[in-house]
Amino acid sequence: DPPNLQMESGSGLEQVKCRARGGSSGFKVAILGAAGGIGQPLALLMKMNPLVSLLHLYDVVNTPGVTADISHMDTGAVVRGFLGQKQLEDALTGMDLVIIPAGVPRKPGMTRDDLFNINAGIVKTLSEGIAKCCPKAIVNLISNPVNSTVPIAAEILKKAGCYDPRRLLGVTMLDVVRANTFMAEVLGLDPREVDVPVVGGHAGVTILPLLSQVKPPCSLTTEEVNYLTSRIQNGGTEVVEAKAGAGSATLSMAYAAVKFADLCLRGLRGDASIVQCAFVPSQVTELPFFASKVRLGRNGVEEIYPLGPLNEYERVGLEKAKKELASSIEKGVTFARK
Ligand code: NAD
Ligand code: LMR
Repeated sequence: DPPNLQMESGSGLEQVKCRARGGSSGFKVAILGAAGGIGQPLALLMKMNPLVSLLHLYDVVNTPGVTADISHMDTGAVVRGFLGQKQLEDALTGMDLVIIPAGVPRKPGMTRDDLFNINAGIVKTLSEGIAKCCPKAIVNLISNPVNSTVPIAAEILKKAGCYDPRRLLGVTMLDVVRANTFMAEVLGLDPREVDVPVVGGHAGVTILPLLSQVKPPCSLTTEEVNYLTSRIQNGGTEVVEAKAGAGSATLSMAYAAVKFADLCLRGLRGDASIVQCAFVPSQVTELPFFASKVRLGRNGVEEIYPLGPLNEYERVGLEKAKKELASSIEKGVTFARK
């Protein structure tokens, strides 16, 4: 419903009943953790997305201010704020897409797995809300450690009897964004012309860039391959160290999250050939979850592509990635089944 707007004026409190707005078709999107370092620029960019008609901003702190601020932008999406767990259900009801950057970020010296104890519980609570209020929504999970939080969300949705593996996606888009940027630098190209698939997961050696499959095709020296693989795998740590205790990647992550959310919305709209990497329930390897290229459509993930031909360097990397991934996945599943 259109809101009743209230404003202090010289003569007291004035109330205006807004007229109903016509012709606003589009998707309903919720951001959980919307007042955080990622959440705020993500909210700003989603407010600018013409595919979004309603934007719900949920957090346990500070959403009134963020919502008031963003709601003044003269773009199409209507913005509503929700504060604290009592308002979680209202924030989620009716949503087509739920983006989750809620949770604590790393400080220097920490691994993503060090965030598990706090973030696992947050993701569990939010997943229970999704199961209850919008079980058909597409979920874009950003909270770390992604390699464990996606399995947690899957288990919670299973418990609630509403698990659809096509609708749950761990966001690994930032690894692709970094890979494209660093590769373009080495090749002397515009990053927008470069496409590097990044598979596996989202932590250290589980981040496996397939440099042999870069588009446009190119040959790299051994030094270039070593440099690029290490820089892409440690891109998150590079930012954590540069921020020196003030958090991890937020701006590039918001950019990557919006790029990925936009692809999910285009898929929901029925656009053809929407393909990007994501960490999803998968049968591409023997592991129950894996990041690889997926095709997005009206039901979320419509198709998962195989890894394609790997060179020896990538085959060795894949084995390392699978070993670490297996234990991170198991940790998430065990937590959620407790
Ligand atoms: P932040 O601390 O700046 O913001 C997190 C927000 O989550 C805060 O506003 C906080 O109030 C909110 N929050 C905490 N508990 C909540 C709950 N129960 N419900 C709703 N909101 C809650 O952190 P950030 O820098 O925005 O990072 C958020 C998460 O994203 C971290 O776990 C970080 O590691 C992860 N991350 C992932 C990627 C990726 O590529 N997937 C990239 C960067 C960061
Ligand atoms: C990243 O890759 O930037 C995020 O996962 C945040 C982090 O902790 O590195």
